[in-house]
Amino acid sequence: MKESTPAAIHLTDYAPPQWRIEQVDLCFLLDPADTRVRSRLQLRRTVSQEAPLVLQGEELKLISLTVDGQPMASGNLHQDENSLTLHELPAQCTLEMETAISPEANTALSGLYVSGGNFCTQCEAEGFRRITWFLDRPDAMTLFTVRIEADKARYPVLLSNGNLTDSGDLPEGRHYVVWHDPFPKPSYLFALVAGDLVCQQDRFTTCSGREVDLRIYVQRHNLDKCDHAMRSLQKSMRWDEDTYGREYDLDIYMIVAVDDFNMGAMENKGLNVFNSKYVLARPDTATDDDFVAIDSVIAHEYFHNWSGNRVTCRDWFQLSLKEGLTVFRDQEYTADQSLRAVKRIGDVQRLRSLQFPEDAGPMAHPVRPQSYIEINNFYTMTVYEKGAEVVRMIQTLVGREGFRRGLDLYFERHDGQAVTTDDFVRAMEDANARDLRRFRRWYDQAGTPVLDVAGEYDAASASYRLTVRQSCPPTQGQSEKLPFHIPLTLALLDSQGREIPLRLEGESQASPGERVIELTAPDHVLVFHDVPEAPVPSLLRGFSAPVKLRFPYTHEELAFLMGHDTDDFNRWEAGQQFAVQMLQGQIHDIQAGREPMLDPLFQEAFARVLDNDTLDTALVAEALTLPGETYLAEQMQVVDVDAIHQARQFTRRALGEALAARFRAVYDALRDSSGVAGEQMDAAAMGRRRLRNLCLAYLCATGEESAPSLAEAQYQAADNMTDAMGALRALMDCPGAIQERSLAHFEARWRDEPLVLDKWFGLQATASDAGALERVRRLMQHPRFSIRNPNRVRAVLGAFAMANPVHFHAADGSGYELITNQVLELDALNPQIAARLVTSLSRWKRFDAQRQGLMRTCLERIVAHPGLSRDVYEIASRSLG
Ligand code: ARG
Ligand code: ZN
Repeated sequence: MKESTPAAIHLTDYAPPQWRIEQVDLCFLLDPADTRVRSRLQLRRTVSQEAPLVLQGEELKLISLTVDGQPMASGNLHQDENSLTLHELPAQCTLEMETAISPEANTALSGLYVSGGNFCTQCEAEGFRRITWFLDRPDAMTLFTVRIEADKARYPVLLSNGNLTDSGDLPEGRHYVVWHDPFPKPSYLFALVAGDLVCQQDRFTTCSGREVDLRIYVQRHNLDKCDHAMRSLQKSMRWDEDTYGREYDLDIYMIVAVDDFNMGAMENKGLNVFNSKYVLARPDTATDDDFVAIDSVIAHEYFHNWSGNRVTCRDWFQLSLKEGLTVFRDQEYTADQSLRAVKRIGDVQRLRSLQFPEDAGPMAHPVRPQSYIEINNFYTMTVYEKGAEVVRMIQTLVGREGFRRGLDLYFERHDGQAVTTDDFVRAMEDANARDLRRFRRWYDQAGTPVLDVAGEYDAASASYRLTVRQSCPPTQGQSEKLPFHIPLTLALLDSQGREIPLRLEGESQASPGERVIELTAPDHVLVFHDVPEAPVPSLLRGFSAPVKLRFPYTHEELAFLMGHDTDDFNRWEAGQQFAVQMLQGQIHDIQAGREPMLDPLFQEAFARVLDNDTLDTALVAEALTLPGETYLAEQMQVVDVDAIHQARQFTRRALGEALAARFRAVYDALRDSSGVAGEQMDAAAMGRRRLRNLCLAYLCATGEESAPSLAEAQYQAADNMTDAMGALRALMDCPGAIQERSLAHFEARWRDEPLVLDKWFGLQATASDAGALERVRRLMQHPRFSIRNPNRVRAVLGAFAMANPVHFHAADGSGYELITNQVLELDALNPQIAARLVTSLSRWKRFDAQRQGLMRTCLERIVAHPGLSRDVYEIASRSLG
């Protein structure tokens, strides 16, 4: 906690460390209230002249310190709150220290803490300094040997990174283990786990024939929920060998599930620590979306073993080096498991509804930020998801094979090093003889570029002229932007929906199919020849770049593309654009006091998709899902949460009524194939459940009398969580006795399964009917709610602030007040989680004057709060600035 204004750290100030820790021996004497950490550091100076050794530490009590076995002259040792400086050390020496920490008092969940009575750690980004004094920076790589001593009955399982090299009993019912990690690593990849855990065990044989022992550690009552995670781990290991030639490197790979965790999961070398939400699943406790999310997070953390651990980041400004690349890799993995287009649609929805707003608001920052106050605030959608888009664009530019060559070169060149995003791009350039100088701007310029495209057909010359102009709005500290290097994938469709062969000006021959056009200038004119009729362009196929595309399509053209585009993604996209245009019209009507209307052309195109039984059900479900309220809000000058909600609800209801019989028919037709009896957890069965639940939701949106009973029947018959939640979610549109008794039944059945109860919390926190605020207050009084548990906070407060716009933005400011009070209470316990919650207030300038004033007042109250953390200070002050 800081009383003065916290200082920013700048990329331009980077300097390599002047000391190397060649080896560290740690010994943990575990005790919840008073853990002792003994460390022995083998130090070597890396510069020729005298240089002080500056170690980082936070909330540590230094018990003793010696250099080469001798106490230090007190004049040469300087300790302040967060650093320990040692002067006049021999160029090579051994530093031994003992520190005391209190894991049970660690509510920030960073460093060594207690969860469910067990010990665990989270060290990324700067948690290791809360364990012992260290060079806590990613470019300081060290060989770790870790000894753990603890009470044997309470903590039978003692884990750390690498291989177990020794273990045994000690007097007084204690025992010890020793782990050695043969790979030098930065401190952020350190992990320790101790507790009463059981494990599911399996094996994996690597491509070179080595046997790897796989273990998933959980609390005993969760042992029946590990099968899916184990299969995912095995699939990921195989996939990374097959796709990128990456083999695992230790003899053991462990995953530990913990209930109290700030983020999703952590890739510690050989010992991943996971939020239990991304491990535990059984068909009756987890939805299809949960199964898919677990699969992708398990893969993500596994893939980090190469993209993150073997090759790591030089400094935290390079975070996207490992995160953007690893998200890209996990996206590709998931795309290979099911339908590529469905995966792409989901990722683009996330990007647009979460990253685009970030890039357009006060927290906008480049994929490689220039400065930060608290690095934990930069584990963002921009660093992760936009970072992955940047990697994807490189693949689009150099091709799949070229990308593989570049990645091989990157791993070969930099194995065992801590490097920069520049090093990554250089490997791609060198392996493909390409110049990506201009492309690098994606790493340094914030903001979402806009492409304004127009088309003109000339029948006389049979040519089609596309003009493309790129621009990028200013962001904090970057008023002028240089042009980006943008891959624009496109095709031209004839009136039958066939792709017209493309011959650009200057080319002698036409080539069939789509084309990747490389935009590098502010303006481009593309002239296509031999175009026999006025085409409909299919632009930015597969979302080939993270930009906003503007093309003046008519409703007829959008309806045509919805039915005919040969690119699955763009077929979906056409429907979304059509829906956005219609909803925007309705929003205007509502604001002007007119009755909104459903566009008959939209209804027709929508019905054709519903009737199309040659399409994959998952794609049909995506196409029939209307754009979300936050995405619609992004399109408005002044966000009107009420009108957006009313328009969207109106359209859902109108579609439900107009197409009730067809929704019902599709619903019934999918009935028999929907259950999980017979292990139907494959992509096809998931697609059927998704479409069926969507039909139910439309039926329930009509307010028609029989709909709630239909949902209740599904709820009661459900043998899987997807159908149970699908029914409950649909019932949230039908207030009344059925809704109440179903919610009560769910709570009674699942109150002792925290992850399942979170779904119940979340559903109610996002309910849009009156009394939402009171309900959130009540949920916080629920015996299973705890402000100390990040998953509970996200399920109730996070869901309310981020996914209940109508009530969070209530005109009287009551939603803002509630969140502000909770932010301040949370900040004293867990600054990282508090800071995430503050982002809900950061885009205050997008609202009407009254709401602006209310949100601003809340932000000012937060900034003025005494003892505020750096985390919350940074978000709140940037939001005001
Ligand atoms: N490296 C982890 C992952 O993306 C995220 C850990 C971030 N934790 C934090 N406290 N900032 O897989
Ligand atoms: Zn990651």
